[in-house]
Amino acid sequence: MSDAYLNYDALKLPQHIETVLLTGAGGFVGREVTQLMLNLYPKLRIITTDIIEPPRLTDDPRLRVVKADLGDTAQIEALFEGEKVGGLIALHGIMSGGSEANFELGYAVNVDSHVSLLKAARRHSEAVLSQPMTYVFISSLAVYGGDKCKPIDRVIPADTPIIPGTSYGVEKTIIELYAYDYGRRGYLDTRSCRLPTVAIRTGAPSTAASSFISGLIREPLQGIPSVCPIAESEADPMLDNMPVYLSRAKTVFRNIVWGLCMPAENIKFGKGDRSINIPGIRVTPRQILAALKQHAGDEGVKLVEYKKDPAVIAICETWAGDYDSSAEVKQGFVVDHVESGFSAAVQDFKDELALAK
Ligand SMILES: NC(=O)c1ccc[n+]([C@@H]2O[C@H](COP(=O)([O-])OP(=O)(O)OC[C@H]3O[C@@H](n4cnc5c(N)ncnc54)[C@H](O)[C@@H]3O)[C@@H](O)[C@H]2O)c1
Repeated sequence: MSDAYLNYDALKLPQHIETVLLTGAGGFVGREVTQLMLNLYPKLRIITTDIIEPPRLTDDPRLRVVKADLGDTAQIEALFEGEKVGGLIALHGIMSGGSEANFELGYAVNVDSHVSLLKAARRHSEAVLSQPMTYVFISSLAVYGGDKCKPIDRVIPADTPIIPGTSYGVEKTIIELYAYDYGRRGYLDTRSCRLPTVAIRTGAPSTAASSFISGLIREPLQGIPSVCPIAESEADPMLDNMPVYLSRAKTVFRNIVWGLCMPAENIKFGKGDRSINIPGIRVTPRQILAALKQHAGDEGVKLVEYKKDPAVIAICETWAGDYDSSAEVKQGFVVDHVESGFSAAVQDFKDELALAK
């Protein structure tokens, strides 16, 4: 399948967005979304920030790179000073495994710093913009959980309550509600984009419980051993029974930028709550191992070690394997091909490895 479905031509920024602030820019998704916006918008000013020094992806002065701890409100305020930020993508956070392991840290970053950022964005929007700032909060499908949301389930959003199964999911839900109310009151034009698992994640493994999904491909393709934490052998039925809902990384990055570009009127096609389930595809770990075999042969498959990790399984059991995303497709978000989407994600990663050599 060609990449035409990504429809980059649709990604027209609204006129009031001349500057975008992007948090979490030192992370996997932040780095790539920054690069995509640099490629798409030659005139856009981009401010990137992270608690670690974000990468300076270009010498172009329209990119301002700021190292800041967003747990400190003074450092948040300083990001807006002297700027006219029309769009914001809030990506920073502590991932699912990290938030489950450290309750205090998860709430401090995933809740408190995001509340401070929303408040600062509102103040800035009211002070310098003639219409509300477009504010994209990056959430997660981990907001879903409960009885109707197990790996075997296909979630129909209208029939599925938000009952997060992890602190991470609760934290994301809290900020979605804040963002919803800021939108309802007209303070900011908010959109909460709930990402599926992003594949293939480049760089080092993250503290996300889903990290192994990318790890089953990423490490063996580089000749490095990888652990499959949800099965005890290749014959384990868990490999078929624990499907994951994921999206090709390229598709997620495109959809996040669409979250910023999407006309406010498209929100009406959604669930009425300003929250958007970014579309993905259902893939089983067995299909992932088959893709590994296709791309890396038996040698690659031999690098997978089966070692069950109850903590990872407990988190994965709270995630549905599939979601109905027809409303989001109407809103203009795009979805991978169900048959070839994962293989395309693996090919993207192989291409990146080849380029890095
Ligand atoms: N990658 C996925 O599969 C996935 C799936 C669902 C949702 N998400 C969401 O997407 C967003 C980005 O994910 P990612 O994979 O790039 O994660 P990541 O861990 O690679 O990046 C998160 C960034 O946040 C930064 N950060 C943490 N605390 C901070 C603080 N106090 N101040 C400033 N920066 C801070 C970290 O340094 C890190 O660079 C997150 O909000 C995550 O919850 C990701």
